[in-house]
Amino acid sequence: MGRIAVYPGSFDPITNGHVDIIARCLEIFDGVIVAIADNAQKKSLFTINERVKMAKLALQDMPDVVVESFSGLLVDYVKKTNATVILRGLRATSDFEYEFQMAHMNKNLNRKLDTLFMMTGKDYFFISSRTVKEVAGLGGDVNGLVPGIVAEYLEKKLKIRPSK
Ligand code: PNS
Repeated sequence: MGRIAVYPGSFDPITNGHVDIIARCLEIFDGVIVAIADNAQKKSLFTINERVKMAKLALQDMPDVVVESFSGLLVDYVKKTNATVILRGLRATSDFEYEFQMAHMNKNLNRKLDTLFMMTGKDYFFISSRTVKEVAGLGGDVNGLVPGIVAEYLEKKLKIRPSK
């Protein structure tokens, strides 16, 4: 078993920014586990099953990627895998404070785990699951921002037609 990174998040839904991070991470690691948080406290548009399904379909051409859901503490989930590292994407300085706090909380919970940050690709830094949902909900075009399957799920869920 090679070096594995766990890429955790809400993925509500997975975006092309996430896919880019995963593809680039595979250049460094032998495998990536996309760990989708099943957090009842956080209101999500898509159910955990929908989020897992969309991510699996979006990443089906990447053989070294596994998509799973997890609940509870991330560090406990990571311990059950062969992963050595938690991977997170960083878009802008506004992400930094939250990520810094989370990385140190996780380090405090498990000294053996480190969080590795990868800068979001220049074509994706303005994309977030939140803005994608807002744009899609108002009938804006999200093609190019999310995998095709996600655009379809958004259209179905929000019952809108993308503007041309
Ligand atoms: O995509 P998100 O919503 O920024 O991802 C946040 C996530 C899921 C990585 C984070 O909330 C998390 O790890 N949740 C699991 C619970 C946990 O371990 N919390 C302690 C870390 S501060």
